[in-house]
Parts: sequence; C-alpha cells; structure tokens
Amino acid sequence: MRFDVFTLFPGIFDSPLKESMLKRAIESGLLDVQLHNIRDYAEGRHQVTDDYPYGGGGGMVMKPEPVFAAVESVLGLEVGNWKLEVGAESADTPSTRSVQPLTSNIPIVLLTPQGRVFNQHIALELAQHDRVALICGRYEGFDERIREHLATDEISIGDYVLTGGELAALVIVDSVIRLKPGVLGDPTGAIDDSHVGGLLEYPHYTRPSDFRGWGVPEVLLSGDHAKVDRWRREQALRRTWLRRPELLERADLTEAERASVLQLARDQAH
Ligand code: 6GU
Repeated sequence: MRFDVFTLFPGIFDSPLKESMLKRAIESGLLDVQLHNIRDYAEGRHQVTDDYPYGGGGGMVMKPEPVFAAVESVLGLEVGNWKLEVGAESADTPSTRSVQPLTSNIPIVLLTPQGRVFNQHIALELAQHDRVALICGRYEGFDERIREHLATDEISIGDYVLTGGELAALVIVDSVIRLKPGVLGDPTGAIDDSHVGGLLEYPHYTRPSDFRGWGVPEVLLSGDHAKVDRWRREQALRRTWLRRPELLERADLTEAERASVLQLARDQAH
C-alpha cells in the first residue's frame, strides 16, 4: 500500500518510519510512504506557501496553488480549472456543485481538526485502497478551495488541536498498515484488538504467575480454552461497560451478552 504525504515538514516523518513495524513493512515492500514537500511546488524565489487571511484577523492560511500543484503533479490528476474545462454551460453553476473530474479514485484526505473523527472503522475503510493521499495542514488552516475542490475526505484524529497534520498522518499510516495481511508478525494479531467488534480488549497476563505476590486469574492457568474464551469475552464486556459504555450501543453482541451488560448495569445501581 502506498501513501503520498503532502507536508511542509517532511523531516517529522523520518524516525517513526525507521523503527519497528513500519520499518519492517517498508523493507518488505508492503508499505511505501512517499513524502512530498509542498514548498517544492510553490512559485517564486521565496516559495511562499501561506498568506494573510482575506477579511483580516490573525494567523496565516495555506495558499491553494502549491497544494493543488503538488497533489495534481504527484497523483497525475487534471483537476485544473474545472469550470473553464467544462465550458459555458457551467458559467452560472453554483459553486456547491463541486464535482471533481478526478481521473483516479485515490482518496485525497485533508488532515484537520474539523474532519470526521478517525476510528477503527475508518482505518478499515482506508485499508481497502492500494493508495491514499494525505495532506497535512499547518498555520491556521487551508484555503477553503482546497477543501471544496481537491480533497475527497477530511479527517481529524480527535477533539484536541495539534500544531499540524503530520502526527495525524503518522497515526493513520500506522493504524491502516497494520491491518494489511503480513504486516503484523502474528496473522491473528489484529483480530482481538480493542475496537475490533466494537469492544475494548480483555486483560492480558504473562509469566511469572506470581509477581510480588500479585497472581494471575485461575482460569487462564486452567488449560480450558472454552472457559478462557468465555472469561475474556466477559472481561471485554465488563471493561467496555465500565470505561466506554457508549461503545456498547454499536458493538456486535449476542442476546445473552446484551443481557449480561444489563446485569452489570443493575449491579452497579445497587
Ligand atoms: Cl488532523 N490536525 C490538527 N492540526 N490538529 C488535529 C488533528 C489534525 N486531529 C486532531 N487534532
């Protein structure tokens, strides 16, 4: 899978891609991250990429030209000036009709705190693609025309503000690539993850069975796999109920599990 990352600070990506799973995924050819410096596509001696906002106020805004030029050049798109291309009939077409004549179906994702909030479901959705473009914002934001006429999606990684979209791009690359077969050492590695099936993960234990007097639940030492599976499922339900009850509304539960969650709720009420 290939990611094309558009950024003003490609250096941010250096070390995260040189360690552990991401490094191995790159070495084995399962992951290709191409970094593109937006500044390289800016015109003029100073290669300016931002400017003052129309209407005044503080902060700087990322200019549309270098971002369009970078993405069009790398993805081989001809977004161009769509209104001119389609001719007179579009002269009075409302700008709300921002259909793009994209020649590919590579998702072009704008990373901003205003996007849809990233989750495991969106990671799975992106993992269906062989190639994804990620545009990292800096300054106060993007010129709105980038959002309207270039991006096909807009993602935030949570309700807080980062200095730029670069860390968000790394979060997305990491969470998406680990879903691809062969990236995790253990092929079942991604199956029991928290958030897969909509629940948080059950507790894990490893040796020693006694650490400073703290033991391990008996059932895990019993060798009874059916019992272990049942215990883990109960623990996942219980943990999700206690920490993230809102996840249970959308979780994939059997009738019996729904009933046991109701029981947890009743127990807590007493
Ligand atoms: Cl994608 N960008 C920025 N600047 N801040 C964020 C974010 C993205 N997601 C959460 N906060």
